[in-house]
Amino acid sequence: MCGIVGYIGTRNTTPIVIEGLKRLEYRGYDSAGLAIIDNNNQLSIYKQKGKIIELERALPEPEKCFSNIGIGHTRWATHGEPTVVNAHPHTSYCKKIALVHNGIIENYKPLKEKLISSGHIFVSETDSEVLAQLIGYFYEKTEDLVRAVKQALKLVQGTYGIAVICQDNPRQIVAARKGSPLILGIGDDEFFITSDVSAIIIHTKRVIYLHDDEVVDINPAGFIITNLENEVVEAKISKIDWDISAIEKGSYKHFMLKEIFEQPESIENAFRGRLNHKLSTIRLGGLNLSSQELRNINRIVIIACGTSWHSGLVGKYVIESLARIPVEVEYASEFRYRNPIVPTGTIVFVISQSGETADTLAALREAQARGAKVLGITNVVGSTIARETDGGVYIHAGSEIGVASTKAFTSQVTVLIQLGILLGRMNHLSPVYGKKFLQELKQIPAKVNEILKSNDYIKSIAETMVNSTNAIYLGRGINFPVALEGALKLKEISYIHAEGYPAAEMKHGPIALIDENMPVIAIALKDEIHEKIISNLQEVKARKGRIIVIASKGDEVIKDFSSEVIYIPETIDVLQPLLSVIPLQLLAYHIADLRGLDVDQPRNLAKSVTVE
Ligand code: AGP
Repeated sequence: MCGIVGYIGTRNTTPIVIEGLKRLEYRGYDSAGLAIIDNNNQLSIYKQKGKIIELERALPEPEKCFSNIGIGHTRWATHGEPTVVNAHPHTSYCKKIALVHNGIIENYKPLKEKLISSGHIFVSETDSEVLAQLIGYFYEKTEDLVRAVKQALKLVQGTYGIAVICQDNPRQIVAARKGSPLILGIGDDEFFITSDVSAIIIHTKRVIYLHDDEVVDINPAGFIITNLENEVVEAKISKIDWDISAIEKGSYKHFMLKEIFEQPESIENAFRGRLNHKLSTIRLGGLNLSSQELRNINRIVIIACGTSWHSGLVGKYVIESLARIPVEVEYASEFRYRNPIVPTGTIVFVISQSGETADTLAALREAQARGAKVLGITNVVGSTIARETDGGVYIHAGSEIGVASTKAFTSQVTVLIQLGILLGRMNHLSPVYGKKFLQELKQIPAKVNEILKSNDYIKSIAETMVNSTNAIYLGRGINFPVALEGALKLKEISYIHAEGYPAAEMKHGPIALIDENMPVIAIALKDEIHEKIISNLQEVKARKGRIIVIASKGDEVIKDFSSEVIYIPETIDVLQPLLSVIPLQLLAYHIADLRGLDVDQPRNLAKSVTVE
């Protein structure tokens, strides 16, 4: 989604903002732009469609775009096509003010009509230009930028993270947020404003996460944060605890591949310090629930989108199996607009890697409004979802840059497994079983490492699927959500149509699609329902379908039913998804790479979906 980077200080802004925008490329965008005020107090705007490199090429020689103040933006189109005119920054009618905006101004139409009737002319189709012009409208009356921004924001419905500059004062950036992340970076005699710390981490690790309805007035010597009612807000400075290597590819060709290979460590980080061997249970202090409150939970609702929804579905299998508590898994976008039943004793978990997904955030607020305690499972510390939930668990996966989520999925599942063990031990699970789960969880990172050694073999299978146009993924029980996740990975980055199905459901329709051109990827591990899935594979084989199987190490019989077998180590049933998903991630990665596609930034997708 859209990204914001701004700078004010003593250094040249242009390379700082351009470099920052490049760090945000992973979020997905289709155009980019920069506004600076040069030493002659002249506001200059540069915009380009496409990649940031195009914007860089369009800039004049360095001395002509030297400036100590500037704001930049990467745009992911919502209102209006990705064109130069629609790209940010947008300007006010007086052409003195430039604005970059993340989010959506829902009431932009009536505001635009009013401005048009008072003589304003619009050049773009965007809602953001309306905000720029509205700020300009108020600025012309008072020549006070902070005041003008606040007056405009009071009229606006929707979400925003904005940064604004005005050529009348080349020593001021005004920024504000509501429902869209915005962070102030504090350097030595310089300040940064950004929607994502990745953009500024090479310059500073001291940041302030702005809250909704806060406005920050920044100058090279300092800043002041106020709310829309002009009350001064006390700011808390946080320290970023990771460094630049976390957001660099190193020797890997793509971030996605790096992140797949990081999973032995990221899974371990998700359970590090949480295994209580003495009591054969799990410590999850962040839940902020007493033992009695944990015992009182009689229903769980998990809310999420996309890959996080798939991990939630794995969570359902785990929690119901270990703790015998009924779990419902809801799409956030559906939950927020229906009339959900949230009886007493229900705990809601929202799962979000980014912690900023608009649908999940709205569902969280809806659940809280209905009196539910809402807990979060998130990756990004300080994200909006992490802050608005009543407690929760960080997955500690580290930065995930590839748009296609990989390590966040396995880390979310690791946390959900621990939740299942914890709730199980509070209820029916014996210490003997608790101990067994803990011991087996500790073995998972080494087992993931073992699977990663099959990378070359999986690549050779990918070579045979490069020209496929469709694929079916099959799984049963706890591996059904893994089949959904495998299909999503393939769709997202290779643009091959893929569907995930519970294996037995295939005969109720999708079997009509099976022929020699249809690859069927099946997870058929040695578990209680192994025989059942073998029967399903026989049905595919009888129709000449090409079967690629993820099987348990040592299962020789499976070879009779498959064209290719990817063996993975055995583990107890509820932990299987942590292993079975790895070959599917690698398969999707290699197919997309062999097709020559932009693996880390697939078309039309954004890393965090901050619009409805
Ligand atoms: C996963 O590969 C996708 N990029 C997408 O489905 C993602 O999981 C979804 O948008 C939810 O994001 P979140 O976890 O940041 O809330």
